Amino acid sequence: MSLITVETTPYTDQKPGTSGLRKKVTHFQQTHYLENFVQAIFDSIGDYKGKTLVVGGDGRFYNLEAIQIILKMAAANGFGKVMVGQNGILSTPAASVLIRKYQSFGGIILSASHNPGGPDEDFGIKYNTANGGPAAEKITDAIYAHSQQIEQYHTLKDSVDIDLTQPGSVTLEGMQIEVINSVSDYAQLMSELFDFDAIKKMFSSGFSLCFDAMHAVTGPYAIEILEHRLGAASGSVINGIPKMDFGGGHPDPNLVHAHELAERMFLDNAPDFGAASDGDGDRNMILGKNIFVTPSDSLAIITANADKIPSYKGKILGVARSMPTSQAADKVAEKLALECYETPTGWKFFGNLMDADKVTLCGEESFGTGSSHIREKDGLWAVLFWLNILAARKQSVQQIVQEHWQEYGRNYYSRHDYEAVDSAAANQLMAILREKVTTLSGTQMGSLTVSYSDDFCYTDPVDQSVSEHQGIRIGFTDGSRMVFRLSGTGTSGATIRIYYEYYETDPDKMSQDTQQALDNIIRLSLEVSQLKELTGRTEPTVIT
Ligand code: G1P
Ligand code: ZN
Repeated sequence: MSLITVETTPYTDQKPGTSGLRKKVTHFQQTHYLENFVQAIFDSIGDYKGKTLVVGGDGRFYNLEAIQIILKMAAANGFGKVMVGQNGILSTPAASVLIRKYQSFGGIILSASHNPGGPDEDFGIKYNTANGGPAAEKITDAIYAHSQQIEQYHTLKDSVDIDLTQPGSVTLEGMQIEVINSVSDYAQLMSELFDFDAIKKMFSSGFSLCFDAMHAVTGPYAIEILEHRLGAASGSVINGIPKMDFGGGHPDPNLVHAHELAERMFLDNAPDFGAASDGDGDRNMILGKNIFVTPSDSLAIITANADKIPSYKGKILGVARSMPTSQAADKVAEKLALECYETPTGWKFFGNLMDADKVTLCGEESFGTGSSHIREKDGLWAVLFWLNILAARKQSVQQIVQEHWQEYGRNYYSRHDYEAVDSAAANQLMAILREKVTTLSGTQMGSLTVSYSDDFCYTDPVDQSVSEHQGIRIGFTDGSRMVFRLSGTGTSGATIRIYYEYYETDPDKMSQDTQQALDNIIRLSLEVSQLKELTGRTEPTVIT
């Protein structure tokens, strides 16, 4: 075995998006493609010589091959140690836990989140820094810049693959490789954050749960924590064995993709609580018997009930939500006199606020919720937060949600996605709206009066960096809102997302059908955006 330097040439498409570099597996399999990007990471992150790197992924197709490539390159580039999950598995939140707990220099996470996996599906790679969160734009820009000038990378020649099947430690060209149990450290942290005894008691008194791991990475985490440590009945975790192709499904926890769970929760004999997580374990969906809790409501309810959980009681510094997320959390923050931040879409904006001790809880409408325990959103953490609230309040999910609406009002909420739209048409739609919003303020749209309209621009309160063009917001005097933005994570064409919100305070009008409650604003959005005319689409692809 020997250290070698391989001559290479740049690929022009290695610009990391908000969630790292995401492409089809076949794209990653091109000669030197992954190697180029990994070397570009190493060349951009400062002095890591002798330090520790965490590596793991969501187990999707190409995960193991990628990890072997990274291990050899890390050794050749002079890392002191790599901590890697057993069988290459680490959920995104677990990787964040490890980076923080072991004061690692950073970590490489291999995942395409909720996108399908398999030989013809998606793969992804991202770099997280020492705080456990995705690298800031300054670093991802540097990675991209390096990837565009790359001429060589360092690796090992004639090195056999490292056995990742058992925990233990080996040395590779002077670098230590520690294969660790993927679940232990994460489960340990969860047991410190939540009242496991109270939750255990609830399960032992007959409380039932169905957790859909969607054949993705959270299976082993959920089985260990929910079934083994908390005593949920065996079989409470469904689709719990991770598969390289997620069983052919789309591991995105929403009512469309987690339909097995969704159907079960609306049967007569539905379990008391239902939840699901995505491909890499950072997203969550929460359900009760006959009720779906929107992620926006979930954030609000978590915030309102944080005092029921000893490790959070009196410790909430503030709350943050992404701009398109409903304003339900704002109402709670107002009542509890907490600071509330509205950030652009994407988790990295929360990280800055957390590092500066400005917020403890945060969430996105896209099924992401989390707290400052790590710097990623955390699916199982949200599930445990809910279980802890249920154990403390001894009420059903439905009762808790309904009482919440009675107290704070209900923010009816839905997102309509138009996927794989012609990019030029989507850009044109946004350009027209961008122009229009400058003059809408104070005008009448149908029966509603526009109170504000803009193209959301965010100035980070910590580092004063400015992020422009983060989505078109049109807010109305009655508290309703519509938001338009283009997805930054899609892999084919453009995805137009329209987010709808309608605020209701009349206690007698809290149980309307969501799409009906939003009907008026949906119609207005199609008029103002000329969506049908510009894209030829008459129906959204996905409604969540
Ligand atoms: C989507 C979600 C966003 C989330 C991101 C990464 O991004 O909308 O909230 O942070 O995935 O999980 P989008 O495709 O909308 O840019
Ligand atoms: Zn994810």
